[in-house]
Amino acid sequence: MNQDKGFYITTPIYYVNDIPHIGHAYTTIAADILARFMRMKGRKVFFLTGTDEHGQKVEKAAFEKGRNPKEHADIMVENFKSLWNILDISNDSFIRTTDEEHKKIVQEILQTLYDNGEIVKKKYSGMYCTPCERFWTEKDLIDGKCPDCGRDVEYIEEENYFFLMSKYQQALIDHIEKNPEYILPESRRNEVLGFLKNKSLGDLCISRPRQRLQWGITIPFDENFTTYVWFDALVNYYSALKYLAPNDTEFWPPDHHLIGKDILTTHAVYWSTMLMALRLPLPRNIFAHGWWTVEGRKMSKSLGNVINPWQIIDKYGVDALRYFLFREVSFGLDGDFSEEALIRRINNDLANDLGNLLNRFLAMNEKYMDGLINPFRFSSVLLQEARNLVDIDRDFAFQFKNLIGEINHEKLWDQFKFNIILEKIWSAISMANNYIAKTEPWKISKENTERLSIVLFNIWNSLRVIAAFLYPFIPNTALKIWRALGLKEYPIDNKMLSWETDIKETKTEKIKQLFPRIEKVNKKSAEYTKEKKKEVKMEELITIEDFMKIKLKVGTVTCAERVEGSKKLIRLIVDIGEERQIVAGIGEQYSPEELLGKSIIVLSNLKTAKLMGIESQGMLLAATDKEGKISILTVDRRIDAGSVVK
Ligand code: ME8
Repeated sequence: MNQDKGFYITTPIYYVNDIPHIGHAYTTIAADILARFMRMKGRKVFFLTGTDEHGQKVEKAAFEKGRNPKEHADIMVENFKSLWNILDISNDSFIRTTDEEHKKIVQEILQTLYDNGEIVKKKYSGMYCTPCERFWTEKDLIDGKCPDCGRDVEYIEEENYFFLMSKYQQALIDHIEKNPEYILPESRRNEVLGFLKNKSLGDLCISRPRQRLQWGITIPFDENFTTYVWFDALVNYYSALKYLAPNDTEFWPPDHHLIGKDILTTHAVYWSTMLMALRLPLPRNIFAHGWWTVEGRKMSKSLGNVINPWQIIDKYGVDALRYFLFREVSFGLDGDFSEEALIRRINNDLANDLGNLLNRFLAMNEKYMDGLINPFRFSSVLLQEARNLVDIDRDFAFQFKNLIGEINHEKLWDQFKFNIILEKIWSAISMANNYIAKTEPWKISKENTERLSIVLFNIWNSLRVIAAFLYPFIPNTALKIWRALGLKEYPIDNKMLSWETDIKETKTEKIKQLFPRIEKVNKKSAEYTKEKKKEVKMEELITIEDFMKIKLKVGTVTCAERVEGSKKLIRLIVDIGEERQIVAGIGEQYSPEELLGKSIIVLSNLKTAKLMGIESQGMLLAATDKEGKISILTVDRRIDAGSVVK
């Protein structure tokens, strides 16, 4: 790998027709992990994510909500930005395909390719799937339906502009064969090669007549047409460098385009050939990861099984989610999401293995050394010569050093072998836990203080390296460990990924448990006893008919923002089967970001009211305690927005 070139990593740019779910979070966290690691390695990194805002899907979603597409995109983009913020995503920039600069570059590229004879106008007919925005041939269809989504297709005949992709077929095959890491994992590479070798590549239709697709970029040489979504979207990887990246570093070509397997063809074939036609160097790698399902089924709104990342974070925390996603399944393969598996990982790996190691060490160091630690005294050379050192200590240092070498192996990171890296980090954690069990520092403390300080140094040092390697995966937790080890003045950088250290004396600090165990409380519902029942005065009672007048529904918060000029008021857009705008006086207790994605209870048949000039079409339910603290009512498991509460 060329260390001088800037390291450039991208995620797909996500459609703004819906709110992000765990699948979108997955790709973005993966890119974040590698970006953080590369920064630790001293590389200048440009990590790009963003949103894909043109096309029929977005146009349709906007019209359904009674908005114009740009208004819709402006609202929806905030969901992505706020989720990336909560998830500690360290992207260097965020591109929107509605950025004027991007649109201009797409047009310039189209013009260049047209001028060079790479784009021509042709008659076209085919079976078109509107939701997927794709033409299919009769042969592609399955039972007459779209092979991707299973929905109805329609026959369409029209003139369109085509990128002459077919002439690059052989060049693309050659490129993939010469560069074994161009498409990864290998199974995906074979899939693309198989397809390219067995089928003749057609030309790519890159336009839509304006009357059919208005929400798009105008073709510069024919204003009756707009570009088809992929030609606009893929160019983001190139255009972003022109107006969003620092211009003191060369970032092209990208090091990794990280994508899901659903968009492999568009990247491996369309994008690669587009770049060939533009005479631009191809990316170093396109990595297509696997798919998250829920209980074996595709996540979908209609099945009501879409995993909402805000809810998971709310319940288990950001780092538990970041860890789980990459430990549970190998990054290239599909995975099935279950809360049970997540809880197991939290309790076993994070609370037990990692949390206990840290807490045991901190307690012992506090008790026997008053928290002091002097790493420099025991750095590698001295360690070899130190008196009173026994084989267990020497072996531990030796084996731990070997393990560091394995975890640090560049190929593992560069090929996104995140679960293997995490397994190895957990081997290091077990090694340190076993070392404590074997050395029994509480016994040494009575006999040999010199050896005790070496043993405690060994544990401290292993925790230091473990925290440094954990930083890309669970940055917040790593920083907590860092502070506890007395390292807050030191950056977590490449120097820390090694056993040797020149850190001078420091002091450890006890901290709260990193990950409290999640107990699955199965409380028996409280017994209703006549004796305990308080007398309720008759005049306080209402009839069931009275209660039935109240219409309560479960709603998902899809947008939240502060009302200008008010500390208290937050304007929410809530999906309760239909969209409602609700203005709630909860701004002193909740930030808009933490409300996003929450399932709340809405009184849906309340007369509309105006608060600071904004119409409120309902009310959310919240509990208030004696001090005026507010807690919003929510549901204890996932349920469709619009479900009735009674
Ligand atoms: O395709 N499991 O955007 P998109 C894992 N705008 N990853 C998943 C997933 C799941 N169940 N669901 C989604 C588009 N993803 C285009 C991309 S790029 C130039 C244009 C992730 O909003 C995965 O990365 O449909 C997938 O490729 C991407 O979201 C699709 O996002």
